[in-house]
Amino acid sequence: MEAVDVVRGSKTFGRANNVLKDISFKIEPGEMVGLIGPSGSGKSTLIKLLCGLEASDRELGSRISLFGKTTQSDGRITRDCRPMRRDVGVIFQQFNLVGRMSLLKNVLAGRLGHVPAWRGTLGAFPRSERVKALKALERVGMVDFAHQRASTLSGGQQQRGAIARALTQEAKLILADEPIASLDPSSAEHVMEALGEINRQDGTTVIVSLHQIDHAFKHCRRVIALKEGRIIYDGDMAGIGPNDLAALYGMESMGDQESRQRRKTNGATPPPSSPSPQQAAGRVPAFHDLAAPVASNVPS
Ligand SMILES: Nc1ncnc2c1ncn2[C@@H]1O[C@H](COP(=O)(O)OP(=O)(O)OP(=O)(O)O)[C@@H](O)[C@H]1O
Ligand SMILES: [Mg+2]
Repeated sequence: MEAVDVVRGSKTFGRANNVLKDISFKIEPGEMVGLIGPSGSGKSTLIKLLCGLEASDRELGSRISLFGKTTQSDGRITRDCRPMRRDVGVIFQQFNLVGRMSLLKNVLAGRLGHVPAWRGTLGAFPRSERVKALKALERVGMVDFAHQRASTLSGGQQQRGAIARALTQEAKLILADEPIASLDPSSAEHVMEALGEINRQDGTTVIVSLHQIDHAFKHCRRVIALKEGRIIYDGDMAGIGPNDLAALYGMESMGDQESRQRRKTNGATPPPSSPSPQQAAGRVPAFHDLAAPVASNVPS
């Protein structure tokens, strides 16, 4: 049984903004898959379809199943979707934690699907739940910050907290939408390592959308590349060559990438990302190296 099975998923906003176009793929339990593609290619929309935040277009035959349970059928969210969400941990680029609550309380919120509602509402989690949450914080190296207000943590610490919450939730599937987009290289690496470790040790299926392609090279064996709402590559990360990347990112020059990244980091110039082992070994050019050949293809 697949962890994720998407059959003919499409998404149109408004009348004609066809953002995802007839997408099908399967992901086996325990895979760690990088979702890459230029800005606007539909990565976040796909993640929202997978966690049931958006319904796909009402088309006969379209279906999304997670671990054998159909969560969307013919573009309608099914009754199985809500209980399924308990098994899905979602991590966004930011705003994952409630700032005024302690980190520990935020992490305990991951247990809300598991404890009786009144206990959760009162914040009266049993000791066993609190131990579980503290163990999760320990795994991501954040146990010392358990009682600190989430708003006072750095971006990378908050993301590790969000991962701890998914761990406490005992999520079978983690969907992370650009979890490292606004982090410095070392915090980004910490967060990616935490995701990778959970994937390897617990067998949790992870889908992570990434703009920093070198992180996808380093941490994801499989990659799904989206362009203009279609899958243009789905396979071994090692099988992607410079030409594939040039085709994927097309005319989106490094200048566009940088200004986009700056928007996401509230104006701060993004730090350069470090090369992956493949890049260091010269097998794959760094993403920014592609800008020159791509730009030289522009017809004058
Ligand atoms: N709720 C919405 N209403 C209307 N249009 C939307 C909505 N959500 C997304 N879109 C549009 O869908 C397209 C794909 O957006 P999406 O956020 O999925 O792209 P992305 O690949 O995640 O991009 P980025 O790398 O910039 O995060 C964009 O053109 C966006 O404007
Ligand atoms: Mg996005």
